[in-house]
Amino acid sequence: EPLSVEEKNGEIEIIWKEEPPHKSIFPVSWLLNHAYDPSPQQPEEQKILWDRAWLDAHPPKKYDIHSCPEDVWMSQLFTLGFTVLKNINPDNLDDFISSIGPIHATEYGRFGELKAMPNSTDIGQSLTGHALALHTDRCHVHEPRLVQVLYCVDNNASGGESLLVDGFRIATDFHQNHQDYFQILAKTPLQFQDFDPMRGYFFSRKTPILELDWEGKVAGIYFSRKTCNWNIPFDELEAFYEAYSAFCRYLKDPIYEYRFRLEPGDCLLAQNFRIIHGRTAYDPLSGHRHLRWATIAWDYINARQNFEMLKHLYLMEN
Ligand SMILES: [Fe+2]
Repeated sequence: EPLSVEEKNGEIEIIWKEEPPHKSIFPVSWLLNHAYDPSPQQPEEQKILWDRAWLDAHPPKKYDIHSCPEDVWMSQLFTLGFTVLKNINPDNLDDFISSIGPIHATEYGRFGELKAMPNSTDIGQSLTGHALALHTDRCHVHEPRLVQVLYCVDNNASGGESLLVDGFRIATDFHQNHQDYFQILAKTPLQFQDFDPMRGYFFSRKTPILELDWEGKVAGIYFSRKTCNWNIPFDELEAFYEAYSAFCRYLKDPIYEYRFRLEPGDCLLAQNFRIIHGRTAYDPLSGHRHLRWATIAWDYINARQNFEMLKHLYLMEN
């Protein structure tokens, strides 16, 4: 309980009714920076839920790593869920990624290679250059939300274009038009599995395709036919497949698709929990297609952004 409150010289001075009384002095600027309404603690999330028409009207560019300020391409990663940088030397890739956040190692190590390999059992590395249907990565592992980093070492084969869709945009439209199906995909857990005899792992994780946050908004999308084990109870199957096939029709609809070509030195960063990705088929006999990939926990990128936006408040106090 204050005995007195007085403002002078840009400060509020309060004498507290205590034995003995004590005095607090708060700079007005500090109080305003820490006001509860509106909360200054977290920057507003700014997302643009895009489709092809939106991208046609606002074509994303590839940002030159040597001249583009980090906050510019980073801002696109937050708004659109992906960004593409160009002119990265392969020798500098590790340093570049590590400058954003620590590389999140997987069973493949800090980096994985995506290229045609003889005898590979992974469709992404087959000698036939198959198309890769839209999917999100690593649905079968309990991991933090990740940013997928796809670096193009070489790409002179015919075909092999990259495909992206905004999973949050699709989920929003899907919810608007099919609320019942949306609920089914948000509430039916699926078993995602990956049996890896070479390294001796059998990963398994249960999650619905649509993960909701505490407000009921879509926070993550888990979509991978390759690793999904359809273990749905028989009496739920019919309704589930109706919902699932309706969702697939949205995914396949070209009105949502962004198609582009990664050139050597390009690096795609995409939120794996939002952006669903794939590639068109390519002809491995016509040339090489070699991508190198890594992942970073989204928390680090989010934390970097928060730091840049809020450091003036905290550094001022120290
Ligand atoms: Fe993938």
